[in-house]
Amino acid sequence: ARIFRVAIDGPAASGKSTTAKLLAEKLSFGYIDSGAMYRAITLKCLRLGISPSDSSKATEIGKIAQATTITFPNMSSVVVDKTEDVSSEIRSSTITSNIGGVASNKSVREALAEMQRALARGDYPETFEGREGINHNGKQVKGMVMDGRDIGTVILPDAELKVFLIADAQVRAQRRYDEMVQRNKLEEGETVDKIKKELEQRDHEDTTRAVSPLKKADDAVELDTSNLTIPQQVEAIEELIRNRM
Ligand code: C5P
Repeated sequence: ARIFRVAIDGPAASGKSTTAKLLAEKLSFGYIDSGAMYRAITLKCLRLGISPSDSSKATEIGKIAQATTITFPNMSSVVVDKTEDVSSEIRSSTITSNIGGVASNKSVREALAEMQRALARGDYPETFEGREGINHNGKQVKGMVMDGRDIGTVILPDAELKVFLIADAQVRAQRRYDEMVQRNKLEEGETVDKIKKELEQRDHEDTTRAVSPLKKADDAVELDTSNLTIPQQVEAIEELIRNRM
């Protein structure tokens, strides 16, 4: 049976992963967090002492991505090279501020694109055991949700549903701040204003890079979540899915 693929793209902190995860849980779909994959490669580079913004290291960084295995043993865990759970570490501000050089690297994008498409198909190269990410507990799923920046435009251009989530920058910064407080992850000196500037900087980098920039696909449904609660945004997408399934 064909899998119903939902592509969710949008700027930083627009609610993509929260919405995607809840949606996947509700519908028993698989969930793939493509941003976590860019984060995992960034972490690997930093550990090897390679600065992602060093353009003389671009080839080397591409090779690291090609040689890395990223798996999703469940909806909220990310494992690199089958051994280490990096779920928490990849959310640090050090990773976020260094990710640009990884996300704009063409060979990194090619390597991750291949993994992402394999995950969406539910067919996995031997080195990539992501099965449970989409096929929870060995159960066959009816669909999958993948969130990121280029899912509807580049990774799954023929997805059954494409959603482009947007929200006012002030609202996004406040949400991210609240989330950090809630998770006890608020770092020294962090303010809503500072987060807002960082989000806007990252959005600028994501929309202006040469390879696979953040962009709404022509056939994506735009959803502004500025004045929606999380249950409301999940509901809105659920209805779009039901109408098309
Ligand atoms: O979604 P998340 O905030 O975890 O993504 C982190 C960064 O990874 C983004 O700002 C972007 O630079 C990059 N990314 C990307 N393409 C994707 C997902 C994430 O370039 N599909």
